[in-house]
Amino acid sequence: MTASNPSSPTRDGAEKPWGEFVTVTVEDGIAWIALNRPDKRNAINPGIVYEMNAVLDAMEEDDDVRVLVITGAGDAFSAGQDLKEYFRIPDAGPALDRERLYRANAAWQWRRMMHYPKPTIAMVNGWCFGGAFQVLIGCDLAIAADEATFGLSEINWGIIPAGIVTKSVAEVMSQRDALYYIMTGENFDGKRAHELGLVNFSVPRSELHARTKKLADTLKEKNPFVLRAAKSAYHHVKSMSWDSALEYLMAKSDQTKFRDPEQGDQQGMKQFLDEKAFKPGLQSYDRNR
Ligand code: COA
Repeated sequence: MTASNPSSPTRDGAEKPWGEFVTVTVEDGIAWIALNRPDKRNAINPGIVYEMNAVLDAMEEDDDVRVLVITGAGDAFSAGQDLKEYFRIPDAGPALDRERLYRANAAWQWRRMMHYPKPTIAMVNGWCFGGAFQVLIGCDLAIAADEATFGLSEINWGIIPAGIVTKSVAEVMSQRDALYYIMTGENFDGKRAHELGLVNFSVPRSELHARTKKLADTLKEKNPFVLRAAKSAYHHVKSMSWDSALEYLMAKSDQTKFRDPEQGDQQGMKQFLDEKAFKPGLQSYDRNR
């Protein structure tokens, strides 16, 4: 499925519920998803919120899609929540509409993303402010261009980093760093984002696409059922006691072995112990047998 053309039909012939504010191109198992308001630096408006929810629904079901990459069109990843369309207009409108919008935004930016059944990578190509941190941290992995500019700019226009931004930042940054950037609003680049633990690594912008594809290709080789269980387990055990985590992980491991359609553990053991065909310390077992 290639979904970059907003007017192209879905498999069942219906019009796709995205394409104006979000574009999707599926190539070789990777869905390249771009927030698409380059003239507004991809500021997150209701259009992006609702289209992203529709995209997540569709990508979840699409067997051609193995990995999702989220990025921004033009020279921005995203300038955060749209001050006019996400804040000013909904603030002045019916409370229920605003609540619905906020709920839908929380869904795509972190609630669904955190446990999304397929791996997600944020590819931060440029400006990344405020609410865009939620998207970034909501993704499993993240790569930035060295030249990208990050900032918790909320303090500069008189609000706190709300939505779930402060919580997200507290998950991945140290207290000193988080409070420094929350309280000063100072900007930083992709290399500093790596030092702060916000992204896995940063590369020159000219290499960003190729390095992201390489990472996505690595994830594509892994057993998708086990990948899903591994990330879900990570998020669940973070808030558990050690005893509870042990119980949960053993149960989750048994459940994963039992339900894995390709019975990866059996294949892995057979190929390593009996056939001496691969080394798990060096590569994945052959999933095509
Ligand atoms: N909300 C609404 N509109 C935004 C926006 C946002 N978060 N960020 C950018 N825009 C709009 C601008 O108003 C402008 O619209 P216009 O062409 O109708 O005037 C357009 O996008 C381009 O922005 P501009 O400021 O001219 O681009 P720039 O390249 O010079 O600067 C930024 C880019 C990102 C530094 C600057 O736009 C900015 O500071 N944006 C706000 C970032 C922010 O604080 N986000 C936190 C939100 S939670």
